[in-house]
Amino acid sequence: MTTSFDNAAQVLTPPEPGLRYLRSDRANELALEPGGITVEHGRIAALEPTTDANIHVDAGGCALLPGFVDCHTHLPFAGWRAGEYEMKVTGVPYEEISRAGGGIRSSARALRETADETVLAQAQELADEMLRSGTTTFECKSGYGLSTAGELRALQLATELQGIVSQNTTRTALLAHAVPDGYTTTTWMDEVEKMLPEALEHVSALDIFVESIAFGLDDLDRMGALAESNGVNLRAHVEQFTTMRSVPVALKHNARSLDHLSTIHPDDIGPLAQSECAAVLLPGAEFMGAESRAPARELIDAGAIMVLATDANPGTSPIFSLPLTVGLGVRRYGLSTREALLAITLNAAYVLDLQNDLGSIELDKRADLVLLDCPAEQVAYRLGRNPVAATFVGGEAAYVRPDAAWRIMER
Ligand code: NIG
Ligand code: FE
Repeated sequence: MTTSFDNAAQVLTPPEPGLRYLRSDRANELALEPGGITVEHGRIAALEPTTDANIHVDAGGCALLPGFVDCHTHLPFAGWRAGEYEMKVTGVPYEEISRAGGGIRSSARALRETADETVLAQAQELADEMLRSGTTTFECKSGYGLSTAGELRALQLATELQGIVSQNTTRTALLAHAVPDGYTTTTWMDEVEKMLPEALEHVSALDIFVESIAFGLDDLDRMGALAESNGVNLRAHVEQFTTMRSVPVALKHNARSLDHLSTIHPDDIGPLAQSECAAVLLPGAEFMGAESRAPARELIDAGAIMVLATDANPGTSPIFSLPLTVGLGVRRYGLSTREALLAITLNAAYVLDLQNDLGSIELDKRADLVLLDCPAEQVAYRLGRNPVAATFVGGEAAYVRPDAAWRIMER
């Protein structure tokens, strides 16, 4: 089957093929020019339209972008924590909510008490919501298990989720998220080591929450060594509330990404920016939690591989829309349109190690595409509005907004 995307007002393309990532200080080299593309058998077959196609997509007035990649979510989880949000906005700090048995522990209780089918149904509904906002690939994490059986169940559910959603997903084992009752950080890391062989059957990365209320630098060091010796990527939640100086420890283990970074120490910006470790910024979590603002401009100017993600989770960021995340990121960090789009496409694919297969509009990549009903500059500007007219996964229309249905014509 051949599909031709005709007459787009803008097509986002990288400056050269085969890039694993693009450092964000080079984002202005991305082209956002009028044009079209041809898709064959689910892959991008030409960077121009063809008259010889079974399906024509009229992209007049639209921006055609690579499918959005959400490289940091906490799906699947059970239930919500709206009451906690109300406490937070009326003045109770997150650390206090967490120490009082709220936070991660409350989502762990909910997960334990919820049947598999219900957890999967909630995650499937959220994946559908993400599809309507242009997300064609997303990461899942465990982390609400808080016991060996619970973590392995969460990973099993994440694996099962792949079978019931339209998107491509990846899995990360966030095995050190909160310290379960009855353990110290060290004795819990002993458990992590024991469950690792089974966990590794599901995942491509390991993750850890390094924070005053969670795990420390020694635990990060240990998780980094485990990731390296098992040939999976290290990712870490770091410098969210407290400046822990996690960055040098994580870089020593060649972390693939460091996420949050809201309170990164100024001396750690240069080394992170010069490494191949991506800086994943989470403006939704920062906004919802009134957290410190990550020094995005300093990171970009120092040459970082900058990425934006939703951090979708029931606690700190109940936000599942990458267009909204871009809007918040652009305003909060002072990003250009190209910097923001790069951060949710190629650079986000790099975090998930999928950069050879997706993340940019180039020959032979998967035809994961988003059609916006407006120029790309409007994504951030019309904050809170969903600009997605249609989402294509592997060349197939996985979502078409009813008022855009006329654009897709079979010949
Ligand atoms: O990425 N920081 C730690 N983990 C999550 C929050 C998890 C929760 O509160 O449920 C985050 O913000
Ligand atoms: Fe997170």
